[in-house]
Amino acid sequence: MCGIVGYIGKRDAVKVLLNGLQRLEYRGYDSAGLSVIENGTLLTFKRKGKVAELVKLLEKKQINCSVGIAHTRWATHGEPNDINAHPHTDNSNTISIVHNGIIENYHSLKQMLLAKGFHFVSETDTEVLAVLIGYFYDKTQDLEEAIRAALSEVQGTFGVAILSAKEPDKIVAARRGSPMIVGIGEDEYIVASDAAAIIQYTRQVIYLDDNEMVTLNRESYSTKTIDNRLTNSIIHLVDFDLSKIEKGGYEHFMLKEIFEQPQTIRDACRGRLLVDDGNARLGGLLPVFDNLRNVDRFILTACGTSWHAALVGEYLIENLCGIPVEVEYASEFRYRNPIIRKNDIVIAISQSGETADTLAAVQEAKQKGATVLGIVNVVGSSIARATDAGVYIHAGPEIGVASTKAFTSQLVVLSLLSLLLGRMRNLSKLDGIQIARGISELPSKVEQILERADQIKAIAKEFSYSRNFLYLGRGYNFPVALEGALKMKEVTYIHAEGYPSAEMKHGPIALIDENMPVVFIAPKDEIYDKVISNIEEVRSRKGRVIVIATEKDERIKKYAEKVFYIPETLPMLTPILSVIPLQLLAYYIAVELGYNVDQPRNLAKSVTVE
Ligand code: AGP
Ligand code: GLU
Repeated sequence: MCGIVGYIGKRDAVKVLLNGLQRLEYRGYDSAGLSVIENGTLLTFKRKGKVAELVKLLEKKQINCSVGIAHTRWATHGEPNDINAHPHTDNSNTISIVHNGIIENYHSLKQMLLAKGFHFVSETDTEVLAVLIGYFYDKTQDLEEAIRAALSEVQGTFGVAILSAKEPDKIVAARRGSPMIVGIGEDEYIVASDAAAIIQYTRQVIYLDDNEMVTLNRESYSTKTIDNRLTNSIIHLVDFDLSKIEKGGYEHFMLKEIFEQPQTIRDACRGRLLVDDGNARLGGLLPVFDNLRNVDRFILTACGTSWHAALVGEYLIENLCGIPVEVEYASEFRYRNPIIRKNDIVIAISQSGETADTLAAVQEAKQKGATVLGIVNVVGSSIARATDAGVYIHAGPEIGVASTKAFTSQLVVLSLLSLLLGRMRNLSKLDGIQIARGISELPSKVEQILERADQIKAIAKEFSYSRNFLYLGRGYNFPVALEGALKMKEVTYIHAEGYPSAEMKHGPIALIDENMPVVFIAPKDEIYDKVISNIEEVRSRKGRVIVIATEKDERIKKYAEKVFYIPETLPMLTPILSVIPLQLLAYYIAVELGYNVDQPRNLAKSVTVE
């Protein structure tokens, strides 16, 4: 994962590139750099740290150029430092490259190039590609041909943008497995890993396909496959509101996105909820309606927070529709040789639509002949395009590295899907109406929770010194316990674990003492009394109990040191409410501890490498 941006046109390239990097910084932020061509000379600047460091470095430099490439890195090969930062150049400093992905056979390529007398300054796989292109360039004297030759030798994944001092009016970009979008302006082009860097200049874009290459000249562009066949690229219009990628008065994107949830939940339901019919309409699934009617089993696959959403999806689909569901880590799926039968449907869930593991799982499932659906946020992303059909969650850009609003929107879409599938089977209209009504009431219930965010802030202050957290929930709320723990780990670096409440006594109970905060998700449902027993078990070992409970539950106060109430809803919808105080808890503790909430250490927004 990283952010790439390249510009060719009439504007000041440094300005456009730095602006693009700032918009892409959520994708990677351990170092940043850029290359430009000024009067036929290739200039490269790079710095360890945030984009702001690069901005500082360039502040006093007078550079006059209108073509360049830039990168914000999330290191895979070689520690984050000035030398390993991108761009990387070939031995003669003629070509410069920025790369997202991993060159898996970099080691053998490096050996081959070393034997030919080439040298390397960094530890990155990317520099090997730069030198390899340089090697072919010496022979061909044609940038595109050299890139084609080099990329055909490469195993692994890449999104690349490349400049040559010898062909100063050109950028070549290519992709395999990593996203690459080209913005088509008036006499200017911007190539980037994500539309966020483009929309300020143009809304017209083309999405490069895997194994596709684009050459951008000052007044024209052309696309070909890496093996040199012409391709026909379609221009799409991106519907993207710039204000949605600004903080809009909030201190952090994470807080903004938590507070956006009443709206994003509304957007996920818009035009899809048929309350009077007790049903849902998901237009994106029309092409696969017959498959949905005949499905024998669902396999839900995803990573991280999206995987937690998939776990809730398992409970929803099995309970409402009686169809067996399996949930698989996407990262395991492709290496496990999964058994896929004729009437199985695979659903990939991904906020970014670019997670390499999830994309690989989609490809594996397609290879095995499955119908593959996507539940994706980013429109036009690789997973959205690779799946047979799907449902967008319409949460808008999620910039905070810790996923929040995407999770609740994924849950809403999974609830709508279960309702639709249930109504195709045994779910009665009356039950359907109750569920549809429950979903429609969620935004105002989330608002009620957010109005009391200060209560969570106070709890956060008190518990910010803790070194561990345990999260416990049952049924629909077991995945929420996992998600609460993940949020805590990601932004506060406090060790946290999630378990099914009843599993605690099989091991984790050994951890409990007077220093251990235990967050119970204990809504009033049919297993409430069992959860109360689990709370007792923690209390008797002096654990500090924090409970997320259903409003008006006075009894719970006896058992807990802190109680946070959420409005009553159907048990199947409680995760959409119960996760919100847990998002806030992680957020406020991170702020209390002085951490960079939007860019936690070592993480990247979406992981486009395996
Ligand atoms: C969530 O807070 C994470 N940063 C991470 O686990 C994320 O959910 C995971 O990488 C999957 O991303 P995706 O939804 O974009 O595929
Ligand atoms: N593999 C390259 C590196 O470590 C690129 C990583 C990225 O995608 O940022 O530099």
